[in-house]
Amino acid sequence: MSIHPLPPAREPTGLGRLPVARWFLFVGAIAALAFVTGVTVILLMSVRTMELSPPPEVAAQLTRLNYALIVVFGVLLACGVGLAFIVRHAVLNPIERLTTQVRTVAAGDFDHALHVDRPAELAELASHVDSMRDRVVAAWRVATDQSEELRRSNGELEQFAYVASHDLQEPLRKVASFSQMLEQRYGPQLDDRARQYIHYAVDGAKRMQLLINDLLDFSRVGRVTSEKTAVESGVALDAALDNLSAMVEETGATVTRDELPQVTGNRMQLTQLFQNMIENAVKFRSEEPPRVHVGAERSGEMWEFSCSDNGIGVEPKYADRIFLIFQRLHPRDVYPGTGIGLALCRKIVEYHGGRLWLDGDAQSGGTTFRWTLPVAGDRS
Ligand SMILES: Nc1ncnc2c1ncn2[C@@H]1O[C@H](COP(=O)(O)OP(=O)(O)O)[C@@H](O)[C@H]1O
Ligand SMILES: [Mg+2]
Repeated sequence: MSIHPLPPAREPTGLGRLPVARWFLFVGAIAALAFVTGVTVILLMSVRTMELSPPPEVAAQLTRLNYALIVVFGVLLACGVGLAFIVRHAVLNPIERLTTQVRTVAAGDFDHALHVDRPAELAELASHVDSMRDRVVAAWRVATDQSEELRRSNGELEQFAYVASHDLQEPLRKVASFSQMLEQRYGPQLDDRARQYIHYAVDGAKRMQLLINDLLDFSRVGRVTSEKTAVESGVALDAALDNLSAMVEETGATVTRDELPQVTGNRMQLTQLFQNMIENAVKFRSEEPPRVHVGAERSGEMWEFSCSDNGIGVEPKYADRIFLIFQRLHPRDVYPGTGIGLALCRKIVEYHGGRLWLDGDAQSGGTTFRWTLPVAGDRS
């Protein structure tokens, strides 16, 4: 298994930059130099003393001292070489092996086991680090499997919603149009009750068509490849207002706006987003003529949009519920609708990498929704 390589190791600073082998070499060289100088000086001194023709016992002692010095020199040299050998094979080589293994893991091969069998301290360290690697990889694998499974089942669900709503359209259109034809052609021959039944059937079929169309819109977001470009959000708002012109005129609504920015997104989806927001703001109006304001302000790499109205408002306890699909707070005969609008808006905003929420602290009196969209030029 291989995942993204880790960032490069942090560079050591100060004296720590020198590898440990160089420290050994440095200290060893100074010790050897000091020792050799010492021995040479002592040997020279003893040669000088010999030249002064000392008494025979002193000469014999000096010769013994020379031999002793040579033996000590030999022993120390052997110890130095032995120590260098031990440090090289018992410490530096295992550290190098472990470093190579750790580098392989850091480069992305997270299945590579870490193991050195000596010295004991390094073996223990390697074993602990390896257990951690093992555990992290196992947890990562479970999380990856789960998110893969989630993605797959989400995809299937969206495909199902799309196919179901697409294939249901045709038979439904038949039911609606034949019921209407029945009413037109045989209406005069039918009694009031029969006409009422036909009216219910037509009404039901029309409502279902609405639902299916909304569901189709919902399942299309993110499933049908939709290109993201630099979009003037003001233009998307204009398009939305154009689609809502009859409603806006009928209700005498006033829609005002800040200067709206360019964002990275899909123009059609952003139009849908504005359209649902303004439609809600006008639909859920109070006694007063509806006033809607669309604002935008920069927040880091995102633009934060807002849509405030002077309508009936939403109780804060419903701040999450209203975004669920088919969830509505009012009976259909008071405020018509399918309950898909806000769920669709949230899906569109999340598809663009933003967030959509009900602003519970807004002072406007009505309702304020806020959402973020990436600034133009940021295609991540
Ligand atoms: N601007 C608003 N003012 C008051 N209530 C709102 C507003 N927008 C949404 N809501 C509430 O959220 C619910 C869900 O909205 P939505 O998903 O668009 O469904 P629909 O418009 O079909 O009812 C609405 O039924 C309504 O109760
Ligand atoms: Mg709506």
